[in-house]
Amino acid sequence: MGNVFVLDHPLIQHKLTYIRDKNTGTKEFRELVDEVAMLMAFEITRNLPLQEASIETPVMETKTKVLAGKKIGLIPILRAGLGMVDGMLNLIPAARVGHVGLYRDPETLKPVEYYIKLPTDISERELIVIDPMLATGGSANDAIHSLKKRGAKNIRLMCLVAAPEGVEVIKEEHPDVDIYLAALDEKLDEKGYIVPGLGDAGDRLFGTK
Ligand code: PRP
Ligand code: URA
Repeated sequence: MGNVFVLDHPLIQHKLTYIRDKNTGTKEFRELVDEVAMLMAFEITRNLPLQEASIETPVMETKTKVLAGKKIGLIPILRAGLGMVDGMLNLIPAARVGHVGLYRDPETLKPVEYYIKLPTDISERELIVIDPMLATGGSANDAIHSLKKRGAKNIRLMCLVAAPEGVEVIKEEHPDVDIYLAALDEKLDEKGYIVPGLGDAGDRLFGTK
């Protein structure tokens, strides 16, 4: 069964408080999401495999460590996932980025896929699906199914805030996928918003309504 990790680094938790605050404006919201994404990338890459390398320092030859070359792919779910890409690329600059375009139909709450463009070698990459919000789980579930259909084998999901309902969907449908969160919230409201949540992540990031 996939594991759920709540990343409780004090800087992540502090910044998340201001992301949640309704008085935080678009510019600051965007900056904070970017910063938290970078901090989450730091945590999520903790276990990347290393291998030995030989180098020469100005003093002597020595054996040291470099990343073992596991190739990473970031897969933001459009639109709101875009807000977390640059922060992650600060730490993983060589990652490839694929895009899955989904929106949630406001009536049915079901995801509708409108775009997909992926690196050609996704089956060899460690993929991190990124979306600030995991609410009903419909969007992330569809995105992960789409990736698997196209050959992805190794997938993790990273979100800022999740509802228990969404976590359960991913655990049921994708027991192989570990989930990384900044917070696991209480529930969904009748409109499918996360409570207490942070509102509509896409609208707050891009200043739309
Ligand atoms: C939001 C969010 C997720 C989805 C989560 O996107 O960014 O993709 O809702 O909800 P779910 O778990 O119930 O599927 P939205 O559909 O509002 O599109 P946007 O990113 O274009 O604003
Ligand atoms: N999508 C959002 O942007 N926010 C929520 O609370 C739920 C879905």
